[in-house]
Amino acid sequence: MLEQAYAKINLTLDVLGRRPDGYHEVDMVLQSVDLSDQIWLELLDGEDQRIVMESAATNIPLDSRNLAVAAAEVFFRKTGIRWGGVHIHLDKHIPVAAGLAGGSSDAAAVLRGLNRLYQVGLSTADLSMLGAEVGSDVPFCVYGGCAVARGRGEKLTRVIHGLRGWVVLLKPPLFVSTADVYQALPPALYSSVASSDAMVEALQSGDISLVERRLFNGLQPVTFQLYPEVAVLKQRMEQVCGSRVFMSGSGPTLFVLAPTQAAGQRIYNAFRGFAKDVHLVRLLQAEEFH
Ligand code: C5P
Repeated sequence: MLEQAYAKINLTLDVLGRRPDGYHEVDMVLQSVDLSDQIWLELLDGEDQRIVMESAATNIPLDSRNLAVAAAEVFFRKTGIRWGGVHIHLDKHIPVAAGLAGGSSDAAAVLRGLNRLYQVGLSTADLSMLGAEVGSDVPFCVYGGCAVARGRGEKLTRVIHGLRGWVVLLKPPLFVSTADVYQALPPALYSSVASSDAMVEALQSGDISLVERRLFNGLQPVTFQLYPEVAVLKQRMEQVCGSRVFMSGSGPTLFVLAPTQAAGQRIYNAFRGFAKDVHLVRLLQAEEFH
């Protein structure tokens, strides 16, 4: 069985404060894009349960450190299924440790797929709750589309909008640890007011230039300080394309919005010289997600 695992970008990311559990209280607008990993799932027979993962990608672990395996473990534990198991084959296309929720999206795809394969009948909300045990971005990736995510990322409010748009993603050649970025975030950078309401309004107005003006990422200054080369790249990209360039999540992926495929293609061509990992993708509507 094939499940698509779509990447996400952050249209906004406000950190509101630090929580007693060590996580941060966030308020973010998350949006799926049509860059995806393919997850092939196959049930395994046998009394001893096995979770076997395989991928041609060389830069990811294939054991419990991989969120897809962690998701299968949570699924079997929570459903009480002790037999059989699953073979997970991953075709990796989403850049790793990039701020695009690639690993979280793989995990969400495994949860959706196992629910269908084992015919357990869990609702999307149930799967989303299981996903929260695997990682903060997994609940959103279970739903996909567009949503405001609050709490540590698991409290979701769906956003319905009809905005069509293209996105050019550029992943600089370095890996960023989300934990390191949050750790380095000074309280002075906490937001007192979240940007999500204004962003939702912009999305629903259908005006992509308004969406562009309202992009916000409170982690961006931290990642730029830890990795100054990303800040330099952002400036050069803005000079070339004349639009605002923003970072997704904790980075380092930078993105630009474009109103049409042709405009996106021009920006994509211009950015090809800056990095190897450049993608032209489309904003995914909620109904296109599954
Ligand atoms: O939930 P996840 O494992 O993806 O988070 C990775 C790390 O990012 C956490 O260990 C934590 O340090 C940080 N984080 C945070 N606040 C959030 C989400 C993540 O501090 N809302």
